[in-house]
Amino acid sequence: MKLPRQFYQPLAIGAPAPLRELPVKLERMIHFVPPHVEKVTAKVPELVRQIDVVLGNLEDAIPADAKAAARVGFIAMAKAVEFGATGLWTRINALNSPWVLDDINAIVAAIGHKLDVIMLPKVEGVWDIHYLDQLLAQLEAKHSIQKPILIHAILETAQGVNNVEAIATASPRMHGMSLGPADLAASRGMKTTRVGGGHPDYVVLADAKDGATREKFQQDLWHYTTAKMVDACASAGIKPFYGPFGDFSDPDGCEAQFRNSFLMGCAGAWSLHPSQIGIAKRVFSPDPAEVAMARKIIAAMPDGTGAAMIDGKMQDDATWKQAKVVVDLARLVAAKDPDMAARYGF
Ligand code: GLV
Ligand code: MG
Repeated sequence: MKLPRQFYQPLAIGAPAPLRELPVKLERMIHFVPPHVEKVTAKVPELVRQIDVVLGNLEDAIPADAKAAARVGFIAMAKAVEFGATGLWTRINALNSPWVLDDINAIVAAIGHKLDVIMLPKVEGVWDIHYLDQLLAQLEAKHSIQKPILIHAILETAQGVNNVEAIATASPRMHGMSLGPADLAASRGMKTTRVGGGHPDYVVLADAKDGATREKFQQDLWHYTTAKMVDACASAGIKPFYGPFGDFSDPDGCEAQFRNSFLMGCAGAWSLHPSQIGIAKRVFSPDPAEVAMARKIIAAMPDGTGAAMIDGKMQDDATWKQAKVVVDLARLVAAKDPDMAARYGF
């Protein structure tokens, strides 16, 4: 076993020191862009002003014969655009693919100094993180990159879910992870063709009453995995995200899925279509009424201890901490969004 004191040592001579704390960033939506489609990348300079993270996707959804073009397109886009406070990420191909080594080599060499996060798909266990961690350190040293590139794992295989706690703590390079419901469904043998969201057949039935039609209550297929992922991430000090919602014609379903994950502790979700950007923004920015309540709690207990009654509700040290989660997030949103700052009364 590696000694704890070695954990924060760079993995290559000349690589930047691993971060001890994650940068505090607003990442309500990770917006996916197909970098080989010029019509889409042409809109990125305008788009970066509306989104928190832009991700150049090289993996699934990019046809095999466009893999090289997507890589080249991503590098060109990364060079051309001024991202400001918007995060620049890429989703590379899976580690068992023939494209991934070129993805990593070419991207770190060309734009490693601009890249914030590499999203790694189909992570099965710590060995996947360790491989990428070592390789990135070597490339950072080779190309004199000053700031470590972080790793974001997609949780989308049964084995990955089994190993989620170890994955979360595999390296100080870990930024967080996203639930990948499509690959995960396939890996587990779940019988659904949907990308995320509920399923009309996953229900509980109300008790039978005198021959009346029994009410059906649809359940959340992703509740268990989301909860497991949130606990693994929160205890490791990294960030959990809900991933894709594939039915672009169902904004309400998307909003419900995003909101469940927000309430359970996720920091954001993927937007695969421009229409999902606004949904993610709305869901992952705390509700002004909730923020007002949280501010009342903090004002009533300035040092965070004791007890208070507000609007008939008991508050104490624990609710003060809950309130702080909400207010800290609201401040982060407000710093980026003057309209929300006004709605929060900051
Ligand atoms: C995302 O990559 C998924 O498989 O859902
Ligand atoms: Mg996937």
